[in-house]
Amino acid sequence: MQGTVRTVTALRGHVLQFCGDPFCDNPSDALVDWSDGLVITENGKITAVGDAAELIKSLPEGAVVHDHSGKFILPGFVDCHVHYPQTEVIASYGAQLIEWLNTYTFPAEAKFGDMDYARRAADVYLQQSFANGITSASVYCTIHPESVDALFEQAARHNMRVAAGKVMMDRNAPANLRDTAQSGYDQSKALLEKWHGKGRALYSITPRFAPTSTPEQLEATGALWKEHPEALLQTHTSENRQELEWVGELYPEHPDYVGVYEHFGLLGKGSVLGHGIYLNDREKALLHETGTSIAHCPTSNTFIGSGLFDVRGSHFTHQPIRVGLATDVGGGSSFSMLTTMRTAYEIAQLQGYSLHPVQAYYLATVGSAKTLYQDDKIGNIKVGMEADFAVIDPLSTALIRHRMSYTNTLIEQLFIQMILGDDRAIAATYIDGKCVFSKST
Ligand code: GUN
Ligand code: ZN
Repeated sequence: MQGTVRTVTALRGHVLQFCGDPFCDNPSDALVDWSDGLVITENGKITAVGDAAELIKSLPEGAVVHDHSGKFILPGFVDCHVHYPQTEVIASYGAQLIEWLNTYTFPAEAKFGDMDYARRAADVYLQQSFANGITSASVYCTIHPESVDALFEQAARHNMRVAAGKVMMDRNAPANLRDTAQSGYDQSKALLEKWHGKGRALYSITPRFAPTSTPEQLEATGALWKEHPEALLQTHTSENRQELEWVGELYPEHPDYVGVYEHFGLLGKGSVLGHGIYLNDREKALLHETGTSIAHCPTSNTFIGSGLFDVRGSHFTHQPIRVGLATDVGGGSSFSMLTTMRTAYEIAQLQGYSLHPVQAYYLATVGSAKTLYQDDKIGNIKVGMEADFAVIDPLSTALIRHRMSYTNTLIEQLFIQMILGDDRAIAATYIDGKCVFSKST
């Protein structure tokens, strides 16, 4: 028989779906679940979700069912800010942002002009992400075009929805890690035209942050985004007090840090700013008005000692800002999005409020997808969306098993996972309907 080949697969387990926004609605009402649920996928898209007993009858003959009964089936986690070349310097001791960049990060990033090296590092990074249920990410590469090709090539092997870009830096970095306003523009443009929209790849224009770019480079960056508004953009802002002062010295004519990016046309839908801990009211209003997002990087903010991001303040205001959750490895100290949620919870506690578990899981999935303006495709389990899933074993350690025996409410069970769980809790990860990680193998 002629016609297109149908690849129908299904996942059976405790399926969770976000049906609302837990920062606007009652958090518990923003989640629906099917304790014996089924998600049916066909050629990488979700075609049905609901009770297994009902849906199983609709499966065509020969459809493969992956049985994860007793485990949670979540949307794959979306890490909206991470540096893959920094995997090798995760857990580097004793420095805050600027010293940490100079001592550990720049020497590591200098190696990524070597394509083979970059390929191997990209593979290690992706395996770590998959082992932690991360199915999409917005990734910083290095100034070398090779580092970008390597990452996109490796991600394409799994048809992963990945956003990535060549870091642009033309000052305040070692000579072997500097481009120029012109070469940064030219190389970024070529990479964008090569990769954006190829399979599930997205190009993100990536000036590292204001201190490592001249005004000329930021000007060229704005021009490139104007020519290619379909691309994303990522950079850092307001992470560390010393950095803030430095930006004030380098860009005295601008009212504040975000004002620099405003001036050069780097704010808007699809622009994701890492950190944003010390934003003033003018900057927050600007992010709201322009649809610019923040990547909240909790383990990085505690590990490098940057400060406490006010996640509630960015939502509970008349001018809310899109916020997603991110590992920010290697500043971040973990690839686990569960650990990242735990640290987000702890950071909120230190500011006098408790992040609700549904809010935490939302930030790691829908929230991050929204920062990238990809929430119609990733970050949730709904018909028509892409088939990326994280399967969580709710009984992954002796302590978790013990603690879980003292509760039977879903919300508490989810909270226990994000506080006590880590990579050991990830039973399997699916991208584009296919298993890319399984704990049992
Ligand atoms: N600011 C500029 N570059 C970086 C980086 O690589 N990591 C973090 N955490 N902050 C930055
Ligand atoms: Zn970063």
